[in-house]
Amino acid sequence: MKNLIIINGPNLNLLGKREPNIYGSLTFNEFFETIKSKYPNVAFEHYQSNIEGELIDKLHEMGFKYDGIILNAAAYTHTSVSIGDAVAAIETPVVEVHISNTFNREEFRHQSFVAPHAKGVIVGFGLQSYELAIQSFLD
Ligand code: DQA
Repeated sequence: MKNLIIINGPNLNLLGKREPNIYGSLTFNEFFETIKSKYPNVAFEHYQSNIEGELIDKLHEMGFKYDGIILNAAAYTHTSVSIGDAVAAIETPVVEVHISNTFNREEFRHQSFVAPHAKGVIVGFGLQSYELAIQSFLD
């Protein structure tokens, strides 16, 4: 059985309410329940924080024992050298995901401090981005 954790950064606790035209109208918990029942052979965990240091602590905690980390660092993707360094420091492979296509949005969203250290990046498929990341760990 694989252990995968989804780590979500700031404002992603508001999925379902937050700018539904960009991020959709499903809450993360609703989505997470369907994922858990669709992949019964995967042990999933989900962690969300709005605080940069807490996200780094979680990467350190999981990054030497889990099989895979799916990371949507949200706006910290574009600003946080520390989260990029944390991804570089750990052993567990990290797939960076984004719900929206960050490349057809504002220019500041085109930069990622995570991507150079990630196993791969999945961008722009709505919540399905997370599922594609899950599948990348199962293949
Ligand atoms: C996001 C894209 C980021 O630019 C933004 O700050 C977010 C969400 C996404 O999943 O599309 O909060 O990571």
